[in-house]
Order: sequence, then structure tokens, then C-alpha cells
Amino acid sequence: MKLIVDKAARLAELAAGQYTALLSNKPAAVLGFATGSTPLGLYAVLCRLHREGKLSFREATSFNLDEYVGLAPTHEQSYKYFMMQNLFSQIDLPLERAHVPSGMDVSAETLAGYDRAIAAAGGIDLQLLGIGNNGHIGFNEPGTPFESLTHVVRLTESTRQANARFFDSIDQVPTQAATMGIRTVMNARSLLLIALGRAKAEIIRAALTGPVTPEVPASVIQLHPDCTVYCDEEAAALL
Ligand code: GLP
Repeated sequence: MKLIVDKAARLAELAAGQYTALLSNKPAAVLGFATGSTPLGLYAVLCRLHREGKLSFREATSFNLDEYVGLAPTHEQSYKYFMMQNLFSQIDLPLERAHVPSGMDVSAETLAGYDRAIAAAGGIDLQLLGIGNNGHIGFNEPGTPFESLTHVVRLTESTRQANARFFDSIDQVPTQAATMGIRTVMNARSLLLIALGRAKAEIIRAALTGPVTPEVPASVIQLHPDCTVYCDEEAAALL
């Protein structure tokens, strides 16, 4: 695992460099995207590089990590909407190849179809990850088996509380989400995890230096052969 510690703005530029390197070598790369506040700086840089004509996603395909169950793509708090606002509407990635799990159809067939679609696209080249305060990656909450594929999870109260800031009230935060599983994430050829802020310091220490255990889902990245972790100084404070 490679660890890079720097200021948030610099991390966004460095992480964007992984995308320019990958896409210049492999224009039809398969990208795994994430939501949350953490990737916003990176997405802004990717949009700028695209505007400047330095980065094209025209031949790429993407798969997002997760989506809230019960939220339609038009709902302002759905992850599909988030991706449209913050990335997809500003780059040239063809929308028919910009996949986000459905929050409206979570049948076993549809969930299994997400993993099949990833495999059919050739597998994910570069999977972006944030980290939840409890160590979740995607929406894989503590206790999720490392062998899990795309599935529906019940969100923990702490995750619902953490995400309530985006909704009018906690009651409106969905109780379930569809998420790539840990195995789905680990199958990606490269992982890129970003953590920002003092609130992530404890969980970053546990994930990067503690035991590899389903109780800290992000600890599984210690087992990945090609993983780069980008932390600002606050998130790296306890390393
Ligand atoms: C959400 C997402 C995760 C994300 C996490 C952290 O619950 N499902 O993919 O990593 O929250 O969010 P933030 O980046 O806002 O701290």
C-alpha cells in the first residue's frame, strides 16, 4: 500500500494524475466512482482537466459503488443525482456507460446483474473509495463478509446520522442501500482511497495499521496488491 499525505487541494491534483495516466494508456478504462463529500475536490479537478482538453472519458465506462434504496435517480439526495451534478454532466463519459446501482430495483437478479456488467466490461481498472466514520467502504458496514458481491445493506444508525446532514431530517434518510460488495471492490485492479479531516483520523489508523477484519471493512485494502491512500494531514494525524 502506498500512502500519500498532503494538503487536500494537492491530493485532488495527485489523485487526478492517476486518472490522466490511466486514461492516456487505456482510453477505454473502467472506472469505479464514489460519492460523499471526500471525492468532490477530485471531481472538480477531473472536470477542469476535461474542460481544458487534457482528459477525455469518451471511451471509458464507470460503475458507482452504491445507491440508497428507495431514491429515484431524480431525487436530489440520490447518488445518481450527485454524480450527474458533480461529474457526469461536466465530462464526456457517455451516460449509457455511467452505471450507478438501482435504488428502485433491488431484486436479486438486478444486484447480480451489476457484478455481471462489471465483469462484462472487463473488470474495474481503478476504484475510488472514501471511508465512513465506522470504516465502511461503499456502504459495506462493519461485519460485511469479505466475499460479498453487490447486495442490499441495512444502514447503521451511525451512518444514517452521519448522512442526515444532507436530508431535511433523519427520518428521511433511507434505511437501506444497494452497494458493491467487498469482493467486488477488491476485484478492481487498483484502489484509490481518499480520507480528509480529523474526524477520519481514528478510522484511518484502524484501517491502515490495525488487524484486517470485517469489523473494519476498509482494513481489507491492506490485502490489495495495488492500493494508494491519499490522506490530508488531519486524517493522517494518528498514523
Ligand atoms: C457515504 C458513502 C461512502 C463514503 C462515506 C463517507 O456513506 N456511501 O462511499 O465514503 O459516506 O462520506 P464523506 O466523504 O462525506 O465523509
